[in-house]
Amino acid sequence: MNNKPLIIANWKMNPATFEEAERLLNTINKEMGRNENAEVVICPPFIYLSSLLSIAKDNLVFGAQDCFWEDKGAYTGEISPLMLKKLGSQYVIIGHSERRKYFQETDQVINRKLKAILKARLNPVLCVGEEARDSFDSEGRSLDEVSLVIGEQVEKALIEVSPAWIRNLVIAYEPIWAIGTGNSCSSDDAMRATLFIRKILTKLYDRSIAEKVKIIYGGSVTSQNVVDLVEGANMDGVLVGGASLNASEFVKIMEVLKK
Ligand code: 13P
Repeated sequence: MNNKPLIIANWKMNPATFEEAERLLNTINKEMGRNENAEVVICPPFIYLSSLLSIAKDNLVFGAQDCFWEDKGAYTGEISPLMLKKLGSQYVIIGHSERRKYFQETDQVINRKLKAILKARLNPVLCVGEEARDSFDSEGRSLDEVSLVIGEQVEKALIEVSPAWIRNLVIAYEPIWAIGTGNSCSSDDAMRATLFIRKILTKLYDRSIAEKVKIIYGGSVTSQNVVDLVEGANMDGVLVGGASLNASEFVKIMEVLKK
């Protein structure tokens, strides 16, 4: 890990009211005043983005949880990367397993979104991860599922993505079995997944480009396991779901990581 750790909060479809969202943000804002050593990105539901941006501390960064691939037009219900950019959002999560599962998002759709996000000069956070646990064997060789699933997800998402754009890319390794279950990945397995993703990036581009891409971990991250997962697995940061909705727990994650 070379730079400041990247801590991305994925609030998903929470909290239920803007007042709660504001309270959560105010607690994080207080901590941001003291925090110079981590880059913290909040990804709230779309409808809270604009108001939260206006009350946030300058060093707090925002992102969206999804977007469409066109700039504007007759696409009912959609939000474009350009709109997000104009609002002041800097990151967009794409390919989250929940979107793949509940909205049937394919690798082809994710590839179109990824290119649109990069074209708007935003940072895509591409989520990849295998379905089942025990995907690595005890001797540390990557087994078929991890290499097939992650390899395919990364390669298909990056079709026709020029090397010049890659430096803005963040890849989140989120094993599906670890999301919302309380069972996080071991730091050894997270490290193996990171190495594997860098190998694919090296094959697709080259080593210096592969090293510029930030690779973060997501799946049951807490203040207890975050140091092990980031420093122990040499990752660039974390994508936090459930724990980012608990103000004191999220602040603790920020505190322990900035040490
Ligand atoms: P949890 O931290 O709740 O497991 O969620 C992880 C996640 O899906 C972040 O995108």
